[in-house]
Amino acid sequence: MNEEKSFRGILVVDDDATNLRMLQEILSSQYKVYAAPSGERAMAFLGKRKPDLILLDVEMPGMNGYQVIRSLKENPETASIPVLFLTAQEGRDKEETALQLGAVDYILKPITAGVVLARVNLHMELEVYRKRLEMLVEQKTEQLRNTQDSILDILANVTGWRDSGTGGHITRTTAYSRLVVDCLMEKNHPNYRINPQYGEHIVKTSKLHDIGKVAISDSILLKPGRLSPEEFDEMKKHTTFGARMIDDAMADLGDVSPFLHVAREIVISHHEWWDGSGYPNALSGGKIPISGRVMAISDIYDSLTSERPYKDAMSHQEAMSILYKETGAHLDPLLIDLLHDTFPIFEEITVAQQ
Ligand SMILES: [Fe+2]
Repeated sequence: MNEEKSFRGILVVDDDATNLRMLQEILSSQYKVYAAPSGERAMAFLGKRKPDLILLDVEMPGMNGYQVIRSLKENPETASIPVLFLTAQEGRDKEETALQLGAVDYILKPITAGVVLARVNLHMELEVYRKRLEMLVEQKTEQLRNTQDSILDILANVTGWRDSGTGGHITRTTAYSRLVVDCLMEKNHPNYRINPQYGEHIVKTSKLHDIGKVAISDSILLKPGRLSPEEFDEMKKHTTFGARMIDDAMADLGDVSPFLHVAREIVISHHEWWDGSGYPNALSGGKIPISGRVMAISDIYDSLTSERPYKDAMSHQEAMSILYKETGAHLDPLLIDLLHDTFPIFEEITVAQQ
């Protein structure tokens, strides 16, 4: 007896007791066999246990095989269990229907031990390979994700190290953006639907919001006092410089990366104002991407609560009163309203990071 195979389970579903007995006899030398005499009983069993493979009769009173497989495929917990249909029906249309519904194979009755075992063994082996491959893909995806995160940190540090004040700024604004995104996902307001992937992209790429500052001259970027209007005009270009860097990367990738799209949104729009008086494109209201509006809040709060060569750091309360004053002019009023209970947590991050 094959030791490894004996631990794997097969659910056999058939309303014919003789067939069930025959299949148990054929398979039990190599597998743990569970028998269900109806579709309903099979579903009840699957609610408690997950076999490695299912042999499923098509024609059964009550829930038939097609209905069973449809339910299995709709449930993420059972969708990947391989199903082999086992039926007396012949004809290509039935076979095609079974395969279209997600069955991996189709065995016609009357069955023979050799055919059943050969097909079941084959699909069990394929399942082992599929799971190994899935694991490998997961590992590689995780590695790629970690590499992407590291490259983001390196790029964020390039900006931070040039402008000594922004190292902590990037860490804190990323943390604020995380709070804002989590809040919006939880509230699920129709104006701010953020799916988990978009939310994750906002948080991660918020680190790059000032990446364009690498193209700003030291005399402006490191100036200890306030900038003159001409110097400020030059500083404003960090949004378009950053967007151009991302455009180049997107051109190389064939413009297919949602991650870079969000990065670009943030880089180009985090200084736009709700009333249209921001830069570089004077966008207003809902024309400003949500990611840019999230970044604007994180950026402004941090600027207010951080010390600069030309100003002291404000307290959380002072910063909040300015933030509320800016609402409607600079910031999205509804967004500020939704974040009412989240802002106090900003203060905890400010304190922890300083
Ligand atoms: Fe900026």
